[in-house]
Amino acid sequence: MGGIATGIELNQMLSHDNKAQLCSWFLDCQVLCIRGQSLTPYQFADAGRIFGTPQVQLLGDYRMNDPKEVTVISNYNKLAGGKPHVRATHWHTDDSYFAEPAKATALYSVALPSAQTKTEFINSYAVLEGMPDALRNRIQGRYAVHKYHSRRGKAIVATRTPEEEALTPDVRHPLVRTHPETGRESLYINPNRIDHIEGMDLAESDLLLDELFEHAFQECFQYAHAWELGDMVIWDNRCTMHRATTSFDITERREFHRLLLKGDKPV
Ligand SMILES: [Fe+2]
Repeated sequence: MGGIATGIELNQMLSHDNKAQLCSWFLDCQVLCIRGQSLTPYQFADAGRIFGTPQVQLLGDYRMNDPKEVTVISNYNKLAGGKPHVRATHWHTDDSYFAEPAKATALYSVALPSAQTKTEFINSYAVLEGMPDALRNRIQGRYAVHKYHSRRGKAIVATRTPEEEALTPDVRHPLVRTHPETGRESLYINPNRIDHIEGMDLAESDLLLDELFEHAFQECFQYAHAWELGDMVIWDNRCTMHRATTSFDITERREFHRLLLKGDKPV
């Protein structure tokens, strides 16, 4: 998992073949960095269109107006108690509380701290492939209920307006997911949003989820991307998890522009 492409300028016209190559690398690498970019927010949204359809994010908090598909992710947005802070430090995949979660997320780095900073990823194909049969047999064919406010979630999540809340009722997704483009199976979990496994009592479901998470979080399934200014990193939410790291002086600004690309119903 993980690839870095260089010598590509996303603010220039790319040929159909170049775009097809990038899409193919994205599917193969799961996390693809296109290094050394210089992108206005509109150019960033256009670069996202190589891979899919940027969507306007439901939660309005960090949305830009020009264009409205781009949001700003910063340790300086919406300060908790006036202090800079980092969100998304627990393993997750984006937007799993939607019936059709975003297929991919792209970040473009616009400000980085002086010390090296990373985003960490888990290869969810490898997690399933490396799972002991006994554990796999217990999840095959089962569904998990994902909620915005999960009973088990540890992350601090943004407050939703009543309208935003009404648009995201609880959803159920299969634990073993088949990727719609590669046909490969992966473990589809989101520790931030999974509340329980359907058809089990809560205690039994909690034990099984603990076991799944312990297996999935092993270092052998991980890859860390070390950021450079001008990196555009796009990852596949259908077969990866990610988390932000905090090993830097968080009074220094770390800021990204973000796109979420429209996805489909997990099967
Ligand atoms: Fe995320």
